[in-house]
Amino acid sequence: MPEGTDFGFVALREPEGRIHIVELGNETRKIKGLGVLNPKSLLGGMEIGQSVHIGSKELVVIPLRLPELVLGMKRRAQTISAKDAGLFITKLGIGGADTVLEAGLGSAGLALHLARVLGSAGRLISVETREEHAEVGMENLHRARIAWGEDFPEHHLLIGDVCEQVGLAAEEFGGFDAIILDLPEQSPAIEAAAPHLNIGGRLACYCPVSSQLEAAWESCESAGLVVEWAGELMAREWGRATRGGMRPVNGPFGHTAFLLVAQKIQ
Ligand SMILES: C[S@@+](CC[C@H](N)C(=O)[O-])C[C@H]1O[C@@H](n2cnc3c(N)ncnc32)[C@H](O)[C@@H]1O
Repeated sequence: MPEGTDFGFVALREPEGRIHIVELGNETRKIKGLGVLNPKSLLGGMEIGQSVHIGSKELVVIPLRLPELVLGMKRRAQTISAKDAGLFITKLGIGGADTVLEAGLGSAGLALHLARVLGSAGRLISVETREEHAEVGMENLHRARIAWGEDFPEHHLLIGDVCEQVGLAAEEFGGFDAIILDLPEQSPAIEAAAPHLNIGGRLACYCPVSSQLEAAWESCESAGLVVEWAGELMAREWGRATRGGMRPVNGPFGHTAFLLVAQKIQ
């Protein structure tokens, strides 16, 4: 990872953890949450760990690792967070020289996690119907590519419906070791994608509501895949209590989505 701020982006951390990702352009402009400033003249050449005052805020320059890229990412569509991305990565066994296809790219919440674990040996193909979503996702991936240097997979964006694109992608890149679908309509995509999974490869679905989970399960079985696991992950954050001790923090105990993992065994 590049050191210091002699690269395209810098991450600034507020004391309570909010992250601002600033492009080091040499023009004075308004930056959301920070005000009007010239990033290059204010931040260029600063070292990791140095503090900087912007308005009333004291911020620290920190490296753009995966959590900072996610915390400071541009958002448009709803994103898959670390909790669910982590399960997908481990249950699908993603890493090394795998070829992975995901749809849709959206804001690249999942793609950032996939890119990190694939590294330079892997290949990631992202499919997205909506150009305006892809633009946001590609900007987030661009930041990661700059921050991680060589340690970034070969990445291809295909604009269009995954039902049509997955066959074309398979012709160009061969079969897939893993396919992850985060779409409102999973069933046609499962039917189209399953033939292009490598034997032993796995397909996963991100299903915000239980009717999608049930439909995904049925579609995987109809497509000849073996459903290995379905369920949801619950995360409960703890913090320091004001009178001492540790306890779950107040706040929503939220649902993200039901997840399903299916394998192609023949
Ligand atoms: C919830 S978002 C994906 C978020 C993304 N996984 C992330 O973590 O940031 C769903 C995306 O799928 C796209 N989409 C919907 N149907 C699609 C299809 N059939 N093929 C490809 N992309 C599709 C939408 O435009 C939208 O951007």
